[in-house]
Amino acid sequence: MRIVLLGAPGAGKGTQCKRIVEKYGLLHLSSGDILRQQRAEGTELGKKAQSYMDSGALVPDELIVEMMADAISKAPAGGYVLDGFPRTVNQAQELDKALSADGQKIDAVLNLEIDDSIVASRMTGRRSCPQCGAVYHIENLKSQVEGKCDKDGAELIQRPDDGLEVVENRLKTYHQQTRPVVDYYKSNSTVYDIDAGKDADEVSALVFAELGELATT
Ligand code: AP5
Repeated sequence: MRIVLLGAPGAGKGTQCKRIVEKYGLLHLSSGDILRQQRAEGTELGKKAQSYMDSGALVPDELIVEMMADAISKAPAGGYVLDGFPRTVNQAQELDKALSADGQKIDAVLNLEIDDSIVASRMTGRRSCPQCGAVYHIENLKSQVEGKCDKDGAELIQRPDDGLEVVENRLKTYHQQTRPVVDYYKSNSTVYDIDAGKDADEVSALVFAELGELATT
């Protein structure tokens, strides 16, 4: 199964992707995580991406399309969930072209819908594990021991782009450049709109209901 997960910053894409890949045995391909990894390794791509990410802007399409084409080409036959990609209509068109050249297509597009007013508190309260990537929230999804990862005990960190000002820019960027991707997919595929304002378990139940139906058709 090849799945695209769309949604604003803080809609819960990463949180839900981790649950989807666990349940269906798919590969989680997060463009944001790959970029952060490139930055941590100090690669050319990581250096080029830095200023865009820190200001809440999008990294240029040509860099992202090449990076994700490489990641997708290494994915196992079982399939994958794309998290944070595509994020512009151009990226979506490039993805469709590359897939159709291999006789493939996206099987499901899940659109996590969330009100802007919820985003800021989700982002500023997010804490992540630098070792395993687990994601928590200081109020909604607490770790068992404050500030420590449940899985490996590592000290949790706050993402540098989760400050209020950058979050506002990321939201602006989402509405200008990424929201049109939802309309692009609605014009040529089936898009499942999911109410992502509910709590994380309720959102997962909605996601699994749609994917379960798809798996049986
Ligand atoms: P990226 O890392 O993709 O960030 P994002 O899309 O802004 O999404 P987030 O990871 O911030 O949020 P999420 O939806 O995954 O929410 P999460 O599950 O963590 O991208 C970062 C940057 O990289 C971009 O700004 C850009 O510069 C660049 N980039 C990446 N891809 C690119 C591309 N394709 N093209 C160009 N540039 C690109 O949840 C957030 C918090 O809320 C957590 O604390 C979580 O615990 C909590 N939470 C989750 N669900 C719920 C719930 N239902 N109820 C309550 N709390 C919840």
